[in-house]
Amino acid sequence: MRTIELGRTGEQVSQLALGCMLMGTATDEASSFTMLDRYVDAGGNFLDTANCYAWWPGRQYTGGESESLLGRWFTRTGRRDQVFLATKGSAWVHNLDQVWAGRDEPDWDLARANFEGAGAQTLRRAVDDSLRRLRTDHIDLYYVHVDDRATPLEETLEALAGIVRAGKVRYLGWSNVRTWRLERIRQLCQRNGWPAPVALQQQHTYLRRRAGLVHDSIVDDEQMDYLRSHDDLTLVAYSPILKGVYDDPAKRRGHPAMEPYEGPDAQARLAVLGELADELGVTPNQLVLAWLLHQDSPPLVPLIGPRTVEQYEAALPALDIKLTDDQLRRLDTAGA
Ligand SMILES: NC(=O)c1ccc[n+]([C@@H]2O[C@H](COP(=O)([O-])OP(=O)(O)OC[C@H]3O[C@@H](n4cnc5c(N)ncnc54)[C@H](OP(=O)(O)O)[C@@H]3O)[C@@H](O)[C@H]2O)c1
Repeated sequence: MRTIELGRTGEQVSQLALGCMLMGTATDEASSFTMLDRYVDAGGNFLDTANCYAWWPGRQYTGGESESLLGRWFTRTGRRDQVFLATKGSAWVHNLDQVWAGRDEPDWDLARANFEGAGAQTLRRAVDDSLRRLRTDHIDLYYVHVDDRATPLEETLEALAGIVRAGKVRYLGWSNVRTWRLERIRQLCQRNGWPAPVALQQQHTYLRRRAGLVHDSIVDDEQMDYLRSHDDLTLVAYSPILKGVYDDPAKRRGHPAMEPYEGPDAQARLAVLGELADELGVTPNQLVLAWLLHQDSPPLVPLIGPRTVEQYEAALPALDIKLTDDQLRRLDTAGA
């Protein structure tokens, strides 16, 4: 598996990252271990989790299941040193009883309103809890999972700097954040000598977000421009196949993942994607991953989240798809 440098850290991470969000809940332990083993056997080293993964697949979960599963896998395989381990804090939800009260599905607005945030004490405790669950003494990359506008950035950044100084975390990242906030974060880091984020984790895929949509989590043109001129920050693209909707028109209809992308160009892009996928004898999901892997301005890391071993196996051929300039142009200009 090819690697790319994370920011300008000198660290090489594999260009396809494996998301572990559903491991330990929707994905059982045996299937999770199989995926982790196969990913590392295939040369992958970039694992992604978060302290809150994943409370929402069922009322019986609290968050922490994914990190705990990874901890057990490290103990069992001794492979902790073979991976670049990313986790996140700030989106833990304490009052899950209220979030589920009387419902079959959680109330996401209530959950978001109750994220624990990025206060200094919260982060210090969250990192220690993650280290304990992960059964490791350091996290390679620690993201602020959801930008917290209620806590002064100085408080968050100073706390993170202390956590890095203590050797518990090596590098920092931010997720679900607007560009102006990112710039402010970086300026504060520069002014105060604090470690700046080297990774930006946002939702990014082949479909383009609907024009005018205001969204903290989806990369927009300005953020792309920002990333192009700041190569010390690497884009980690989550939900790259939008929950698998590209392969299945029936799954697309009414799927929440499609909602931000239902613009006038979506059908044209899906049509060209389908045509080219047929010509190449690959699936649309694979072609989307291949297109992402071909991006070089800025280069990025697609972060997949297979729920089953079969889905994991279906993603890997994307690494071997070689797209010509003409094919890339067809995909890029579709719906333009
Ligand atoms: N920073 C953040 O806020 C944030 C948010 C979300 C995710 N993440 C991270 O990013 C990772 C990936 O995100 P994601 O899970 O949204 O990514 P994704 O790969 O776009 O979606 C995963 C889902 O796609 C479907 N799928 C996967 N492979 C498929 C295939 N071959 N054919 C058909 N369907 C397929 C499955 O849906 P079904 O379950 O319906 O089969 C699976 O649950 C997560 O594990 C997590 O680490 C971060």
